[in-house]
Amino acid sequence: MRTTTALGCLALFAALAPTHDLGAQQVVTITVNGDRPGPRIDPMFYGLMTEEINFSYDGGLYAELIRNRTFRDDANEPVHWTVVKDGGADGTIALDRSPVPDTALTTALKLDAASVPANGRVGAANEGYWGIPARPLTTYRVSFWAKGSAAFRGPLTVSIETSDGASRWASADVPRITTEWKKYNATLKTGQLTPSTTNRFVVATRSPGTVWLSLVSLFPPTFKNRPNGNRPDIMELLAAMKPKFLRFPGGNYLEGPDFENRFNWKATIGPLEQRPTHMSPWRYRSSDGLGLLEFLEWAEDLGMEPLLALYAGLHIDRGANILTGDALKPHVQDALDEIEYVTGGTSTTWGARRASDGHPQAFQLHYVEIGNEDWLNEGTASYDSRFTMFYDAIKAKYPSLKIISTMRTRDSAFVHSRPPDLLDDHFYVNIPTALAQAHLYDAYSRGATKVFVGEWATNNPRAGDTSMMAFALGDAAWLTGLERNADVVVMNCYAPLFVNVNPGGRQWAVNLIGYDALRSFGSPSYYVQRMFATNRGDVVLPAVIDPLPKLSLDEIPKAPPPPAPTRGGAPAAPGRGPTGPTGPFDAVYVSATRDTAAGDVILKLVNVRATAQSTRVVLKGVPAVKPDATGEVITGELTAINAIDQPTKLTPRPVRVTNAAPEFSYELPAHSVTVLRLKTR
Ligand code: AHR
Repeated sequence: MRTTTALGCLALFAALAPTHDLGAQQVVTITVNGDRPGPRIDPMFYGLMTEEINFSYDGGLYAELIRNRTFRDDANEPVHWTVVKDGGADGTIALDRSPVPDTALTTALKLDAASVPANGRVGAANEGYWGIPARPLTTYRVSFWAKGSAAFRGPLTVSIETSDGASRWASADVPRITTEWKKYNATLKTGQLTPSTTNRFVVATRSPGTVWLSLVSLFPPTFKNRPNGNRPDIMELLAAMKPKFLRFPGGNYLEGPDFENRFNWKATIGPLEQRPTHMSPWRYRSSDGLGLLEFLEWAEDLGMEPLLALYAGLHIDRGANILTGDALKPHVQDALDEIEYVTGGTSTTWGARRASDGHPQAFQLHYVEIGNEDWLNEGTASYDSRFTMFYDAIKAKYPSLKIISTMRTRDSAFVHSRPPDLLDDHFYVNIPTALAQAHLYDAYSRGATKVFVGEWATNNPRAGDTSMMAFALGDAAWLTGLERNADVVVMNCYAPLFVNVNPGGRQWAVNLIGYDALRSFGSPSYYVQRMFATNRGDVVLPAVIDPLPKLSLDEIPKAPPPPAPTRGGAPAAPGRGPTGPTGPFDAVYVSATRDTAAGDVILKLVNVRATAQSTRVVLKGVPAVKPDATGEVITGELTAINAIDQPTKLTPRPVRVTNAAPEFSYELPAHSVTVLRLKTR
């Protein structure tokens, strides 16, 4: 994590008050040179970064509804499960070391029904991830592994019902449970009902005896009906961003809290009962239901290319156990195997394994990344040697793959033995820093290694679940800088992507997309990214603002030193000092690009001030400008957010321009981000 400053929100907002310099009403001229095309913008410029944090997959994108389905979340208690005793029945539930043979399922839930009167039941109820979502006229797929005691006659009844058990939305019987472990399936169909999350899933018996359960699963319909798939509503939010790549599996989730709990991709493939699960560094257990193949299929479903981060021997354990040299060699081989799993034909060992896992077709892969933030957790000293081992092995077998370093190439303290194809820069910054850093790459040496900005966000560690409008302004200003510098910045992705907004769901502030069990929403930052990514353009055009309104140093409080990093490691990133920016800061930002195929000039305009800004747009060197132009604008109170109950309080509204011409007037609303598409033919 690279956090440049951490100002309180009030101070940040003070920074965005009207300025004293240029009068707010002074017209500024924005001149775009259509006949002096600049750098090409990489088609993969906008993508997604993802990892298991904030209940991103379990309790998030991954559609599984049962929490602690393999009973490994806690060593002593069947957490998220409770016993159900209805109608005078008596019984217990408890964890039991009763492994399912030939699987990774080591722990079972033992359900003892001591006595069950007529019309009674004893069962186990799962609370889901802050509730089980009940939707009308919906088919849910249930599966579980079970074995019964010799005396147990069954049946088992599965149901979705209100949390108090008063109403049952759907139920089904599984008639006979044998004394040998076996997998059972059932279907639950709801009727008419009002959608709600205050529900539970119950597996129960009406006859006495003992039953052991493992890998209890409940799936609602998924995106594209993929078995073991993703939530449609969240996938649709992502699809609307038209992302071009998916950086996975992390982030810190790649490294894990320690060696045992690194992202060990081989333990995340194949049938679910063969996946042992592991602890995420974000202090909860990952089911690994969303494993390597599911990441790849997620990318495939949205037309994204995988950008595969490879485990490189570092963990979040403060440098306690960094693997280097001979100890790292098996993991270099693991990385080669992983690349083969992704890209290999079915005649290769791991390509064949992918095929037997259900995906014979190889995936396109152009980029791999060696580790994550290796300047943290004592990783710096060994990174050059670790990078070299991976680089040599990968380039020997896959010469056309581009290899990303997580550290700079500045001098011998960093990566110097091999030339990375890209370096991954990360930025979590407050608003003044985001504004200042809109110019960060203007000064970047054009001969230096090109950049992938693999994590960035305008945020405040003390802010809430999702981004607010003020952060979205910082994001937009920053993105104009990335687009303008598309000759050195090849790709970028915001982080983190997801948060479950229920109490206890979040480990990180702020995030792009929020949800509960039933509903989801995009933050203002989500909409800004959607506006930028869906209006990328393929060539940068030079654009100048004159005069350029400024925010003074007095109006942007000087940044205090950065906070201590969340988990060990060096606080300052390579090449970054500990002090914040000193201003002055631009009040208006522009990026101009061309969509060559459509013949459009695309303008992205950001006004961070609390007053409207009149502009005169001058388009030079274009064949014509049609009077009708379209676009989108998002604006709102600085503290405004979207939330579960107000999911679309802030969204872009369409813009229609009828006076577009080689020179025309346009007013930028206060606190706004605007995208305009001007037709030149
Ligand atoms: O995005 C949250 C975390 O920030 C990532 O896991 C890590 O790479 C960075 O420190």
